[in-house]
Amino acid sequence: MSLLSIGILLGSLPVGSSQFPRACANSDSLLRKECCPPWPGDGSPCGELSGRGSCKDIILSDAPLGPQFPFSGVDDREDWPVVFYNRTCQCSGNFMGFNCGGCKFNFVGPNCTEKRLQVRRDIFRLSAREKYQFLAYLNLAKHTTSRDFVIATGTYAQMNNGSNPMFQSINMYDLFVWMHYYVSRDTLLGGTDVWRDIDFAHEAPGFLPWHRVFLLMWEHEIQKITGNENFTIPYWDWRDAQDCDICTDEYMGGRHPSNPNLLSPASFFASWQVICSKSEEYNSRQELCNGTSEGPILRNPGNHDKGRTPRLPSSADVEFCLSLTQYEAGTMDKMANFSFRNTLEGFANPSTAISNLSQSSLHNALHIYMNGSMSQVQGSANDPIFILHHAFVDSIFEQWLRRHQPLREVYPAANAPIGHNREYYMVPFIPLYRNGEFFVPSRELGYDYEYLINPGNYIYDFSTLSFPGVSS
Ligand SMILES: *[C@@H]1O[C@H](CO)[C@@H](O)[C@H](O)[C@H]1NC(C)=O
Ligand SMILES: *[C@@H]1O[C@H](CO)[C@@H](O)[C@H](O)[C@H]1NC(C)=O
Ligand SMILES: *[C@@H]1O[C@H](CO)[C@@H](O)[C@H](O)[C@H]1NC(C)=O
Ligand SMILES: *[C@@H]1O[C@H](CO)[C@@H](O)[C@H](O)[C@H]1NC(C)=O
Ligand SMILES: *[C@@H]1O[C@H](CO)[C@@H](O)[C@H](O)[C@H]1NC(C)=O
Ligand SMILES: *[C@@H]1O[C@H](CO)[C@@H](O)[C@H](O)[C@H]1NC(C)=O
Ligand SMILES: *[C@@H]1O[C@H](CO)[C@@H](O)[C@H](O)[C@H]1NC(C)=O
Ligand SMILES: *[C@@H]1O[C@H](CO)[C@@H](O)[C@H](O)[C@H]1NC(C)=O
Repeated sequence: MSLLSIGILLGSLPVGSSQFPRACANSDSLLRKECCPPWPGDGSPCGELSGRGSCKDIILSDAPLGPQFPFSGVDDREDWPVVFYNRTCQCSGNFMGFNCGGCKFNFVGPNCTEKRLQVRRDIFRLSAREKYQFLAYLNLAKHTTSRDFVIATGTYAQMNNGSNPMFQSINMYDLFVWMHYYVSRDTLLGGTDVWRDIDFAHEAPGFLPWHRVFLLMWEHEIQKITGNENFTIPYWDWRDAQDCDICTDEYMGGRHPSNPNLLSPASFFASWQVICSKSEEYNSRQELCNGTSEGPILRNPGNHDKGRTPRLPSSADVEFCLSLTQYEAGTMDKMANFSFRNTLEGFANPSTAISNLSQSSLHNALHIYMNGSMSQVQGSANDPIFILHHAFVDSIFEQWLRRHQPLREVYPAANAPIGHNREYYMVPFIPLYRNGEFFVPSRELGYDYEYLINPGNYIYDFSTLSFPGVSS
């Protein structure tokens, strides 16, 4: 195979998008502040010669931020991504990716001209073969070095403003664990000082769009490494669950017979190591999580504080939450009352929508209930239950969008906590995505949920992906 044809082959894969593109993780890119890698298909930056995109200055929104973060110029994530790069690829048409080598989420094909719709399914409705394939794919991701992306192991200042790059390769699963850590980590203020009341993906309106694009990218990276373009992540419908019914060795892992905090030795995930679980250690060293293994996945479902989370969420909780008409409200943080986002996230009472920080409900309830790796925000994606859980949370977001049909303007444009305004670029993704771009029905992003397609009737031919009578 010639180099050119390899390039075309690689360039035509669906390119997901995430942390630092390997091609930009060097001092030349950092000092020029430019991340516009060549598209291998034609060798030009951003595939410009083929009309895929071009290298452009990043224009930031100047909408005011909320008062929650009283600093500026102290955190690399402020005004993402301009601390690192002020020029990136801007792709045209249906092209997407850090070098415009891929397609938008709802298109496939060498020129991104074929529309597609994929369906995420209930994990309990997968065949034995499909379920085994899902678990095997996760294991493959955990053992496959990410080709396109690396993690930063130092802050911009620790990199001497770019002249001393600090990046490291990481496996594809852990790349996503690290991104979830990086977006939610504390601000390092120097000495031993940190600022904890900051989170670019939680406790504010961006919670739902951020996790939506995060899962889409994760799904697409798995499609890439497995060569299965039809793979979709399953969801766990936890409404009215009495216990963790996916916590068996057949699914996400049973309990260890002698240590209730560990997974059963027969589980798919018993040998997995976690990363980014020691936030206090990183804070005291004023360093970033560098991806070092830190021990096994911890999980002890049901051993949590019952005063905080008396039970798993009910159908009635979800239904109440869906009836809330305001997406966001008031302070737009975890104190917000009558906010759909804050109620679904779980900081507000699921029958009154009044904020109550001594309770963890809906989304938060599942994290607390797992009483282990899932329960610390920064390291929660270490447990693959995270994927199933967040897919279901996203489906509730999707139900709300369908029921209330909000204009994009309903998503707050200004005064949200840092990172969460409508036009803010979401940390830590390159290429760039704005929060508001994911405040749209999932079909516009190329996917749907099995149980939302035609409630009450699950008989579909998933091999054809055609759903008569459903308009898109
Ligand atoms: C981008 O950064 C480079 C390097 O610091 C600088 O020379 C250039 O003026 C900046 N461009 C913009 C549009 O801010
Ligand atoms: C894709 O677009 C290029 C450039 O326009 C064209 O030469 C090529 O034939 C197209 N390929 C397909 C499969 O449509
Ligand atoms: C890095 O940039 C900051 C802000 O421009 C500047 O204050 C600092 O002196 C620079 N540090 C180094 C090591 O160049
Ligand atoms: C990574 O961080 C750990 C502490 O979390 C430290 O012991 C180790 O030396 C670091 N490794 C590198 C390569 O910096
Ligand atoms: C597990 O729950 C107990 C309370 O029952 C709590 O003290 C502990 O911090 C929890 N552990 C984790 C990792 O969440
Ligand atoms: C939310 O409602 C409670 C109860 O009415 C009230 O005490 C609290 O101040 C409200 N919070 C905000 C941010 O408005
Ligand atoms: C918050 O929840 C606790 C129970 O954990 C309850 O005692 C308290 O009354 C609630 N506060 C409000 C304002 O509803
Ligand atoms: C994906 O699904 C399409 C449509 O059913 C089918 O034509 C294609 O062969 C499938 N691809 C794989 C890799 O299974």
